[in-house]
Amino acid sequence: MIRTSIEDGVRTLRLDRPEKKNALTGDMYNALADALETGNGDDAIRCQLICGQPEVFTAGNDIGDFLQYAGKVAIDETPVVRFLRALVRNEKPLVASIDGLAIGVGTTLLMHCDMVFASPRSLIRSPFVDLGLVPEAGSSLLGPQLMGHARAFELLCLGNGFSAEKAAACGLVNEVVEDDVDAVAFACAKDIAAKPPQAMALSRKLLRGDTSVLSDRVEEEIKIFASRLTAPETIAAFQAFMMKKKA
Ligand code: COA
Repeated sequence: MIRTSIEDGVRTLRLDRPEKKNALTGDMYNALADALETGNGDDAIRCQLICGQPEVFTAGNDIGDFLQYAGKVAIDETPVVRFLRALVRNEKPLVASIDGLAIGVGTTLLMHCDMVFASPRSLIRSPFVDLGLVPEAGSSLLGPQLMGHARAFELLCLGNGFSAEKAAACGLVNEVVEDDVDAVAFACAKDIAAKPPQAMALSRKLLRGDTSVLSDRVEEEIKIFASRLTAPETIAAFQAFMMKKKA
């Protein structure tokens, strides 16, 4: 589930499924999309903060859900796609606090955040290719823009885990926080929320530029991602993960 609270103009969205390493289900994606979409039109929400649990931000998409989608569900109607589109359309500043594993969409959503804080024990990893998949959430565009092709290739194609320190060197993380990363991230979100909201909105929009290219890339990735869900090598990788768990 997603636990939400509002304080000082900051809406906190806490991923709360620790028994499954915060793997994201359809309900969780819908709750996140609801929060982003309603935040756009709500003057009381000046900033949104997304955070996880101690030692795990998220293990990414629930792999069992992927297996269910494969060939049976129109990808356009899935909550994950709704969430990805909501990320692109999000108008409010978004801050992330990560403490531990940030896998798959847990990595790629960071590229949509305005500020990212990570504890030293964080590990940012995207094993898309190992799972027979392709990068999503516009990361195939944002990743190279942010860190250059070689480092984006290492993160998104090779699936190497990046430490918090390395992610900071790549520009994906603003600050590595030794003590209470959530508190530091909340303080930053509160600072953002206290600033003149119209100037903040206009400035953020200028920095993001024309998002139509990003939106087109997200749609292109979704099409390829959907076709990969039924590829034999992908299904084999998902089943291997599920079987290992049963064993
Ligand atoms: N989807 C579904 N369930 C997941 C999951 C995911 N992405 N990640 C973890 N879980 C579940 C496990 O199946 C396990 O469930 P169980 O207790 O019912 O067996 C539980 O969460 C704990 O995970 P476990 O693997 O036992 O913990 P670990 O500390 O040994 O490893 C991870 C943690 C995150 C490294 C490992 O679970 C993993 O690699 N997960 C998959 C990550 C991934 O590839 N995500 C998709 C990216 S597109």
